[in-house]
Amino acid sequence: MWGGRFAGGPSAIMREINASIPFDKALWRHDIAGSRAHVAMLGAQGIVSGEDARAIDEGLQTIAAEYERNGVPEDWDLEDIHMTVEARLTELIGPVAGRLHTARSRNDQVATDFVLWVRDACIRAENALKGLMQALLARAEEHAGSVMPGFTHLQTAQPVTLGHHLMAYFEMFTRDRSRFADARDRMALCPLGSAALAGTGFPIDRQATASALGFDGPTRNSLDTVSDRDFALEFLHAASTCAIHLSRLAEEMVLWASQPFGFVRLPDTLSTGSSIMPQKKNPDAAELVRGHAGRIIGCATSLMITMKGLPLAYSKDMQDDKPPVFEAAGLLDLSLAAMTGMIADSTFQTPRMRAAAEAGFATATDLADWLVREAGIPFREAHHITGAAVKLAEERGLALDALPLDELKAIDDRINARVFDALSVDASVAARSSYGGTAPDQVRARVAEGRKMLGTG
Ligand code: ARG
Repeated sequence: MWGGRFAGGPSAIMREINASIPFDKALWRHDIAGSRAHVAMLGAQGIVSGEDARAIDEGLQTIAAEYERNGVPEDWDLEDIHMTVEARLTELIGPVAGRLHTARSRNDQVATDFVLWVRDACIRAENALKGLMQALLARAEEHAGSVMPGFTHLQTAQPVTLGHHLMAYFEMFTRDRSRFADARDRMALCPLGSAALAGTGFPIDRQATASALGFDGPTRNSLDTVSDRDFALEFLHAASTCAIHLSRLAEEMVLWASQPFGFVRLPDTLSTGSSIMPQKKNPDAAELVRGHAGRIIGCATSLMITMKGLPLAYSKDMQDDKPPVFEAAGLLDLSLAAMTGMIADSTFQTPRMRAAAEAGFATATDLADWLVREAGIPFREAHHITGAAVKLAEERGLALDALPLDELKAIDDRINARVFDALSVDASVAARSSYGGTAPDQVRARVAEGRKMLGTG
């Protein structure tokens, strides 16, 4: 394809280090779409004859059908997907195939293919996130009133509702979804026509190719265009943040499924057994989602480091942009699917969660708040009195609301029988009805808003 000025072919090692076809064949659909838009424009502009443009377009369609059926052949001598398609086109229609690359370089070609691919990956992630968010809404509604311990420092803090806890993840995934959509907004300009780095002298119509490929218009600076991989970096950033959220959810599933917690039974379909311990049901899918997050973040780091030292415009280092993006996208697709199944099909052990909330003095804040409200005691003093009550309960091995009234009165005689209304975990969550709080009514309101936002209710 470029042998004119060379005396001999590349060494075996050159062929191997140079070949991107093993991975960039994933771009074949976008490569052929880009070439069809390009040749239609060349024909319309009279840069190639209408007859040649038609022959080329038919050849490209034949190749697409072949690849669809049999996959893309991997010949290292052909380097990459662009050369692979062109070589096959030459076999099919002869030397006229050589007119396709008029007013184009692989540099603007690969930038176009890749941004099209990343745009699709964003749309995939947005759709998968929507599915996960719908699953969260359904389970949150079901468990709007299910009480569990809320934690800080992984120590029992205050009772919360399981619905509220699940809706916390809904918020994270809402932000993730908007990050992918927002990144996609900046993928609206088409690289094709920037050529190698400086543009071209042929009378091309960049608006035409941009529109044909679903872009708003052409990019504005050819040097920037062929050396820009911000779109891939933005995708990897959005994927990394999303993976962090998936990993935290996965970590909680692992923790909750453990015997000491016993908060959840994971679906059999997303668990595995042990070859030696017959009683085991392991949360492998959740663990792998947690693991994959590390790999996705590694992919983002990899491309940032590839890009950070490159002078303008294209350098071959940039061929290394694709493996981390493809890897991260594949891992993210899988992780989203696994967590959607886990949320939809897990069995939450609500009696166990409630017992844990009742066991950990989780309503101590409610006692302090009651002393402030009912007895007019300053909060700091109320905090101290409550501390003494917790100490006593701990010594006696009782829950706070099981302490006899006279013993509470002995700590502070402003306490009366009405305090027991405030000390149940249900009273505690119901009281936290400030906007965005854990009260069941608040959770139901947020679920309704979430449905509206997703256009599903
Ligand atoms: N396979 C190359 C890549 O992915 C295509 C661009 C090659 N351009 C070049 N000037 N050698 O980056």
